[in-house]
Amino acid sequence: MKANDNLTLTIFGASGDLAYRKLVPSVYDLYMQSLLPDCFAILGVGRTVYSDQDFRDKMIKGIKEFSLQPTDDEEKINSFINLLYYVPVDSKKTEDFAKLKDRLQEISDKCHTEGNVIFYLSTPPSLYEIIPANLSAHGLNKEDQGWRRLIVEKPFGYDYETAQALNSGLLKYFEEKQIYRIDHYLGKETVQNMLVFRFSNGIFEPLWNRNYIHHIEITASESIGVGERGGYYEGSGALRDMLQNHLMQLVGLAAMEPPTKIEADSIRNETLKVFEALRPIGRDDVSKYAIRGQYGAATVKGESMKAYREETGVDPDSRTETFAAIKLFIDNWRWSGVPFYIRSGKRLPTRVAEVVVYFKKTPLSLFGDESEMTHEYNQLVLRIQPDEGVLLKFGLKVPGAGFKAETVNMDFHYSGLSDAYLPSAYERLLLDSMRGDATLFTRGDAVLAAWKFVDPILKAWKKDPNVPLYQYPSGTWGPEVADKMIDGEDVTWRYPCRNLADDGIFCEL
Ligand code: BG6
Repeated sequence: MKANDNLTLTIFGASGDLAYRKLVPSVYDLYMQSLLPDCFAILGVGRTVYSDQDFRDKMIKGIKEFSLQPTDDEEKINSFINLLYYVPVDSKKTEDFAKLKDRLQEISDKCHTEGNVIFYLSTPPSLYEIIPANLSAHGLNKEDQGWRRLIVEKPFGYDYETAQALNSGLLKYFEEKQIYRIDHYLGKETVQNMLVFRFSNGIFEPLWNRNYIHHIEITASESIGVGERGGYYEGSGALRDMLQNHLMQLVGLAAMEPPTKIEADSIRNETLKVFEALRPIGRDDVSKYAIRGQYGAATVKGESMKAYREETGVDPDSRTETFAAIKLFIDNWRWSGVPFYIRSGKRLPTRVAEVVVYFKKTPLSLFGDESEMTHEYNQLVLRIQPDEGVLLKFGLKVPGAGFKAETVNMDFHYSGLSDAYLPSAYERLLLDSMRGDATLFTRGDAVLAAWKFVDPILKAWKKDPNVPLYQYPSGTWGPEVADKMIDGEDVTWRYPCRNLADDGIFCEL
């Protein structure tokens, strides 16, 4: 659905990597699908001194490298690139925002963008409160001539207190309905599919509760290390980088009650209720419910991988976790007693994200100890990436004499759809923000509730020397102790392959 209101997308931090690799290429993708409004402009803002032309030249390269749409039509690229402008501004200097105001006015007059502006904060988090304050000092947050929206990238705070302070800081200058907090996982097509899968199928919803589900597992693993981002990662770690935001959002979608409508507040109210029902983990119980690890050196497929402590920008004695796993409970009517296990890490064997629902076993094992189904749970795998799709594992008779049951797969792959264009997360989220639809953006209260849950873990990891930090060799599934955290007979984490359905057999990772 096209964005109808004409507008200027103002990107702070426009000379940075995110604008180059994701934001501008995603807007180009929207342009190629005729989803942008009739009158549209991008205004890049940054400290680097660029002319409009410098900015355009740089962005052409980004588009050619990262766009998902065809980039061989020079005429199309040029007509898109002419929608781009740039103004050098030091975001810390209030007086510099006068230049921004003038440029926005000029663009609005020239391109007929009608005073509607999205401000996208793609800057270091230290500027997240300064920029809104400076926008406000020049009246740029006021909606008297068109609407104003503010998109904030993660990290949204560093812990509960800083997230609370940031929230209040933003709310001094913008109203909640103007603020769009990005969690790019919510922009993923397959993450949104969790809502459709759960609430459009009569067959699964009746089973989706403590009566039939044994436990739920959520994995988001990466095979890469921290690369050039050691400096950032040192102050973050896996818990802040992936679990507090992306994985918690997945928990919210997997566990929420049906919203009354598919619209922003209904859905976000339900996510909030899930987070509010999370059983708090006390500081003394952290080791029981949360495991942290850090990757060590190893040779993976003949390639030698550095230890995390040897990466650029990382303290040689670093205690930052590159792997985190948590066992959590949602104390509400639907989920009481059902454990959720979530894990994420760098330098694991492969890049994969999936939600696995383990259904309870039958009350009796009629088909004997030899049968696979005596030992396995029916599993429903919602694969987020790669090889996006859905897999259901159930027991079937092995042909021939007797009654031996083995596990078989029923699977759906998005790649099997002939017109399966999966838009990038940023493409979807940028379009929604232009359309004023905040459904896939996180709301301040839910972000704080998620921080409240992880905060005691962060504090214990920082302050309590008795909480172990396990080292795991690069290329493995994290510390061995994490394998033992799952309750149940014959069960540990699923061993996911790159291909959704190639499981239980040898697979290339
Ligand atoms: C980001 C994290 O939010 O998500 C990165 O900061 C991580 O460390 C990335 O690599 C993973 O995203 P995706 O879409 O590749 O799963």
